[in-house]
Amino acid sequence: MNFRKGAFLLGQVHVLDHPLIQHKLTHIRDKRTGTKEFRALVQEVAMLMVYEITRDLPLTEVTVETPVATAKTKVIAGKTLAIVPVLRAGLGMVEGILNLIPAAKVGHIGLYRDPETLQPVEYYCKLPAQVSDRDVIVVDPMLATGGSAAAALTAVKQRGVREPKLMCLVAVPEGIATVQEQHPDVEIYVAAVDDHLDDHGYIVPGLGDAGDRLFGTK
Ligand code: PRP
Ligand code: URA
Repeated sequence: MNFRKGAFLLGQVHVLDHPLIQHKLTHIRDKRTGTKEFRALVQEVAMLMVYEITRDLPLTEVTVETPVATAKTKVIAGKTLAIVPVLRAGLGMVEGILNLIPAAKVGHIGLYRDPETLQPVEYYCKLPAQVSDRDVIVVDPMLATGGSAAAALTAVKQRGVREPKLMCLVAVPEGIATVQEQHPDVEIYVAAVDDHLDDHGYIVPGLGDAGDRLFGTK
């Protein structure tokens, strides 16, 4: 098993247990946390998570002239990566990631869960140019039944993306299993794996409705 600082593996799921991530997630979960603070915390956790996820990005050697001498040094190889938030709640993670990787491209996938069937319904998909040449991270705060994430991963793969990664704040075993069944090639990164889903498909204990808490809707 590939253990490394700041993350541990649970099956093929990387649980990012950095203390800052866990501390901020506690405040995100707290129902007393208002929209403004919730939004800021989600961005901060997204930034910390993407820092961990990008640990293995390949590097290539370049030469730069420092004020003193010529230095052989490294930059990230290949095209800039793309992040693909699942609308709406995934939007809440984009700014935090861009704080760390300002050159990242951003695609969007619009999905909502039908409240009766809990099945994802796609209403929008726009991905960056040459997306098939890029490392892609699909982002969504919640991995509940897994239907939305699985559909989003299918959508990016249909447009040529190979082995996208999935990053969520909170997951449950059911959602992880759905993604793993449909997308065994996808590495899943989460800040927490919670207990179960309630009868309405909400994660328990979870954090409530991520989209509503981010955007102040109900
Ligand atoms: C939420 C969340 C995920 C989805 C997870 O979105 O942001 O996309 O539910 O549930 P699942 O794993 O059971 O598919 P929602 O459908 O509430 O839409 P919103 O982001 O527009 O609020
Ligand atoms: N979507 C949310 O926003 N929250 C949940 O708990 C489950 C799905």
